[in-house]
Amino acid sequence: MMSAPIAERPTGAAPATGVLRQPPGLYLLFAVEMWERFSYYGMRAILVLFIADSARGGLGWSQSAASRFFGLYGFFAYALPVAGGYVADRFIGTQRAMIIGGLTIAAGHFCLAVPALPMFYLGLTLVVIGTGFFKPNVSTMVGQLFRQGDGRRDGAFTIFYMGVNVGAFFGQIVCGYFGESPRWGWHYAFGAAGVGMLFGLALHMRLKRKYLPGIGEAPDRQAVAKAKLSAGPLTREERDRLTALLVIILLTIPFWMAFEQAGSSMNFFAAERTNRVVWGYTFPASWLQSVNSGVLILSAPLFAALWTALARRGREPSTPAKMSAAMVLLAGGFVFMVLGAERSDRGVLVSPWWLIGAYALHTFGELCLSPIGLSLVTKLSPLKFASLLMGLWFFATSISELLAGQLASITGKVARGELFHLFGGQADFYFIFVTSSALAAVALAVFAPWLRRRMHGRDT
Ligand code: PHE
Repeated sequence: MMSAPIAERPTGAAPATGVLRQPPGLYLLFAVEMWERFSYYGMRAILVLFIADSARGGLGWSQSAASRFFGLYGFFAYALPVAGGYVADRFIGTQRAMIIGGLTIAAGHFCLAVPALPMFYLGLTLVVIGTGFFKPNVSTMVGQLFRQGDGRRDGAFTIFYMGVNVGAFFGQIVCGYFGESPRWGWHYAFGAAGVGMLFGLALHMRLKRKYLPGIGEAPDRQAVAKAKLSAGPLTREERDRLTALLVIILLTIPFWMAFEQAGSSMNFFAAERTNRVVWGYTFPASWLQSVNSGVLILSAPLFAALWTALARRGREPSTPAKMSAAMVLLAGGFVFMVLGAERSDRGVLVSPWWLIGAYALHTFGELCLSPIGLSLVTKLSPLKFASLLMGLWFFATSISELLAGQLASITGKVARGELFHLFGGQADFYFIFVTSSALAAVALAVFAPWLRRRMHGRDT
């Protein structure tokens, strides 16, 4: 629903064909999103640990309450992008939305840096609102760099996705260090997140005119009129594609529901059940959060090369097939968690390799689903709904976050065998996600031919 259709936006770039010959604007968006994600994931890496801590100035809640709260926070952070995308498209444009969002996010982190409970709530509220303005609009702007059919789009989203994860990686390391170090503390970590966001904002304000000319401006009257002209009923093909996209968006819910255990139940697993001593140094539990982003940065180019190599032989798997593979990899990751949890249930601190193995498989799964999904949204949605559907993609994630938090909050109950009993202990908890992911894999495989027909040729 960008008022001026994506395909008619000036791209400011020559229609080059090589994956790496991207419009320069991509690299600016890469850097800005990198800093925003630095702050987001840096803060998030320690959030449940801070809430459940009672020894070092945390809030001292139970782990179950912390996980539930974490889920609610994730829900709002990804539900508000629907509103943020709408406001940007109809009124202020993605550029201005990003600046408002960035300022609000930074203000939120600085509030969190103040050790007082009301500031905690105010800070998180600001981060959530700011993310709503910021997050969907950057992704939409990546799509706006290209005309329909430009072969560089998928590659661009993969590069962009690496930016997300470079930021996440360093955010988790830096904020994890400050937060869990006895010399500093939680509030320094929140402050560091705020500083990161300010870097991103400064970069954007300085360079946007040069590298993103004419992209993301507030919709002008002419554009609105044009959009109205093209606002006739959808064609059959458009409607089919929309149906396929909606089903795909729905099917991402079980993926993120399991994947997002990272910030809560798996984070507690790292803190309490993992042996984190290396050469006499106990590394922060939140550092294990960065395995995901670290593995992603290393393996994203390999996946991109794999898809290109397969495409050259005319055998690139369709998006539904890739997503089904994503679910299988996710289930495999949780098999690691089941095994690790089973050992830890005997009362020993287990090797960090269980978590590392799980995160690595989850990351491979993520690469088969997430960057491809973002690109797919910009490919399948009718132009006038582009941002709305991007918002919807994130909205599905917000439902996952809610479910993930609710499930994480019953970790203890499941471990005590109060709900069902299979292996006993936390192994039973992680087995829930082996099952849900395997079921989703089957559902996707079954639906694949139906979905592909409705994509009318845009199925890879
Ligand atoms: N990690 C990615 C990002 O932050 C994808 C993601 C988005 C994952 C939302 C979960 C929720 O952009």
